[in-house]
Amino acid sequence: MDIEKVNSMDFGEFVDVFGNVIERCPLIAAAVWSQRPFSDVEDLEKHFFAFIDALPQSGQEGILRCHPDLAGRELQRGTLTAESQREQSGAGLTSLGADERLQLAELNAQYRARFGFPFVLAARLSGRAAVPRELARRLHCPPAQELRTALGEVKKIGRLRLADLFGADPARL
Ligand code: GUN
Repeated sequence: MDIEKVNSMDFGEFVDVFGNVIERCPLIAAAVWSQRPFSDVEDLEKHFFAFIDALPQSGQEGILRCHPDLAGRELQRGTLTAESQREQSGAGLTSLGADERLQLAELNAQYRARFGFPFVLAARLSGRAAVPRELARRLHCPPAQELRTALGEVKKIGRLRLADLFGADPARL
């Protein structure tokens, strides 16, 4: 895909293609569409991220709450979005043993109880061993810092998803 193609998309097509750049938040793509034309993929990415940054804290927490748990019930049930499924399998989370799954479920529950939103990590950038380690570490962070970290992970996930759509190297976005 190239940026001319993106700039020529009507609203419906744009939301179909970019609606899950931010997990289960097609409203963000819907808002970004009005800001076309985009000069390149970096510019498009900037609009997604600026929307997130401009939200009040309740909206930013809402974005986090749209994310499924890593190695959680939705993975077991097969109800993840295609993107999340690919990322979680890529990180090896589909082949955890029962003990590892239980350990992650407990950590995910503790994290959610402490912060009020699920643990979000750009799973594709970490191996399966790093997920519980990062979860256990971030569980002890101050809430304001953790909100910033989690939104940073949402942006990393978004960058990787955009790079996939453009067939680009995410390091060059
Ligand atoms: N990292 C990459 N994808 C996801 C996801 O869907 N949920 C969470 N919690 N982290 C992710």
